[in-house]
Formats: sequence, C-alpha cells, structure tokens
Amino acid sequence: MSANAADRYGIMGYPVSHSRSPVIHRLFARQTGQDLQYDLLEVVPARLEKAIRQFQRTGGKGLNITVPHKGEVGRFIDEMSERASNAGAVNTLVFEDNRIFGDNTDGVGFLRDLESNLELTLKDANILILGAGGATRGIIPPLLDAEPRSLTIANRTLAKAQILAQHFSGQCPVTACRFGEVDKQTTYNLVINATSAGLKGETPPYPEQAVSYHSVCYDLSYSLTPTPFSRWATEHGAGRSVMGWGMLVEQAAESFYLWRGVRPDTDAVLKQMSVNA
Ligand code: ATR
Repeated sequence: MSANAADRYGIMGYPVSHSRSPVIHRLFARQTGQDLQYDLLEVVPARLEKAIRQFQRTGGKGLNITVPHKGEVGRFIDEMSERASNAGAVNTLVFEDNRIFGDNTDGVGFLRDLESNLELTLKDANILILGAGGATRGIIPPLLDAEPRSLTIANRTLAKAQILAQHFSGQCPVTACRFGEVDKQTTYNLVINATSAGLKGETPPYPEQAVSYHSVCYDLSYSLTPTPFSRWATEHGAGRSVMGWGMLVEQAAESFYLWRGVRPDTDAVLKQMSVNA
C-alpha cells in the first residue's frame, strides 16, 4: 500500500460530531510515524453515495463508515470482505486503483478486546447477548468463531432474537428468549449489552438472574462516565463491568492496518485517551 504525504481518511456518519475516531487515528499516526489526515465528515443518508464518490475522486484513501450508513454503503462498493457480508455491515472502505473495497473491523476489534485486553477465554463460555439489532448481528460471527459452549440472544422483541438465532445456529446452540426468560440455571461468563437503550438513557428490565461474580458484563456503548448498563451490572454483582472503549480502539487499529499496513500499539492509545475502559 502506498503511503504518500498526508493521505486523506475520515469517518462518514450522521450525526458524527461525537466520534472519537479522529483522535484515535491521529494518535495512531503519530505513534507509527505515518503522515495522514483524518476528518469528521457529516453526510446525510440521501447524499451518501455522492459524498463517497467525491471523496474517491479527490484522492481520498480510506473511510470509516458509521451510523446510520453501515448497512447501506454495501450498495456502492466494488468488493466486500466475508466478515462484512457476514455482519451485514461495512465500517471501513479502502480506495485503491479506482475500486472501493468494503470491510468490517468491528468483530475482530471486539474479539481482540475480549481475548487480548481483557484476557477472557471464550472457548466453552456461556455467552448472553442483550438486544437483537445490527450490533448483535455484527458480533455473533466472531463470537461463534471463538467456540463458546452456548450463545443466548435475549431481546425485548422475541421475534427479532429468534430470526438471528435461526440464522446463526449450527456451530453451537444459539437460542432466543425475552429478558425475563433467561435461564436461571446457567452461569453466564459474558453478558453483552448490544441494545441501544442506554443511548436514550434508558435501563430496561435486563435479566438480573444472568449476572453473578462469575460474569463479565460488557457494554458495547461507551461513555466518560459509567453507562446505564455498566452501572446496572455493577449494582447486580457482576465480577467485572466494562464499556466498549477497547473495542472502539481495536476496530480502529484494524482499519488503520488495512489502510497503512502498520499495526499500532492499542494499549498505549487507550492510556493516552485517559478513559476508564
Ligand atoms: P443497532 O444497530 O445499534 O443494534 P437497532 O437495530 O435499532 O440498533 O437495535 C436496537 C436494539 O436495542 C434492539 O434489540 C432493541 O430492541 P427491540 O428489538 O425490542 O426494538 C433494543 N432496544 C432499544 N431500546 C430499548 C429499550 N428501551 N428496552 C429494551 N430494548 C431496547
């Protein structure tokens, strides 16, 4: 991959002003001695294709794609990785030789945070995911690759959890239930909040019976102060309660690697961001 001076990158979303990606990628660039520019690009859904084509025409090298465009962007690209098509979402674009390649680094970033940063063993673990939207769909394939004992999807709307469970069942038992129906006999090693409730400041009746000192509770959302779910998990006796800062930095590192061929030291960047990950 060529590395010309001040190659251009950015993140497209709507809204996007809250994104930490520019800070993370600038820290990666400084750490690895790469000369690049990374900008926030606020683009409404109706202008997405035009904005991407313009970025490409004017020499842009790569983009991160965030809410609400991750599903839609697949329609405008030339090639999609297997992990992006499994997740049903693209979060990274690479522009090369007039072609657009789409990938998804969220899954591998999540797995790296769980296995490397948090040192969790997922093989033979019982995993519970709360929520059955796009975020859940994206994390199921990498979780199944880690060969857990069981994967349960609990959701307010049962039918959505059932569709995902049916789609992904095979490698290990994947089951669906409502929050109130989570099995009391199972010790869940990992409880993941993939709902968007916390973003609205809501704390739905998450299943208390799933949490014990054996469980790590992981909120895919992150905030400078504990999220509603991470507070709830601590209050209900979780062994550990963590937010998704590590995943955010790890998925960014994987995008950076795709673009630049260099892998940054994520630990150092997490520390520099001085967030309580
Ligand atoms: P994302 O792409 O971020 O996953 P999504 O597809 O809108 O977003 O999915 C949001 C998830 O959060 C869904 O599982 C949703 O539950 P429903 O399927 O029942 O709608 C869940 N969610 C959002 N707000 C919630 C709330 N207040 N209580 C419980 N679940 C909630």
